[in-house]
Amino acid sequence: MLKSFVVISAATLTLLAATAFAQVTKTAPLDVEPVLRVPSEDYRKNWVQLGTFSVLADKPADGAKELHQVYMSRQNLEAYLNTGTFPDGAVIVKDVWNTKTDVLTTGTASFAGELSGRFVMVKDAGGKLGAGPRSGDGWGWAFFKGDERKRTITGDYKVDCLTCHEPARKTDLLFLQGYPVLRK
Ligand code: HEC
Repeated sequence: MLKSFVVISAATLTLLAATAFAQVTKTAPLDVEPVLRVPSEDYRKNWVQLGTFSVLADKPADGAKELHQVYMSRQNLEAYLNTGTFPDGAVIVKDVWNTKTDVLTTGTASFAGELSGRFVMVKDAGGKLGAGPRSGDGWGWAFFKGDERKRTITGDYKVDCLTCHEPARKTDLLFLQGYPVLRK
């Protein structure tokens, strides 16, 4: 029993690792549905940062290889805190930063360097957004490389996104454990 559990976990991890930095559908950049664009407003300044994930380097002593910072508008955040669900059209942006790591007076610290890319999710409970192969399971889904805001390389969200988000199914496919501001 225990053994088969271990085998399944290893298979799952291999799957996650395989999808980790690959856009698996290998889609050439295309104009994304307008609703899925990176917001034109200055979300880093005007929205609320829900939380940060640091993805460690292969040798953890080297610090973090990426920092992931997640943002949402204050209005949508408050709607969630009041109702427990995100309103249709609510946008979540995840910045993926390459890092620099240095010994500071706090210790070995990693901090944001160049922007590697951005992930956007848009709440779409009714599936009305018309985001085609980038819409389903209650959300629209897209990834943008570097500074790009409109041209996505996401083909089919089920291949490019959902496999990795499946473990968070119980929390609407979001990794809520990383967002202190959403805790009650
Ligand atoms: C390699 C696995 C993986 C893939 C592929 C992936 N994600 Fe994620 N995503 C995660 C994990 C894990 C988190 C939270 C932890 C982190 O960012 O390190 C996350 C967080 C996010 C967040 C912040 C909100 C949340 O879910 O907590 C957004 C937005 C997001 N992903 C969008 C996408 C979109 C859109 C795609 C497809 C284009 C995608 N992701 C593909 C694993 C993945």
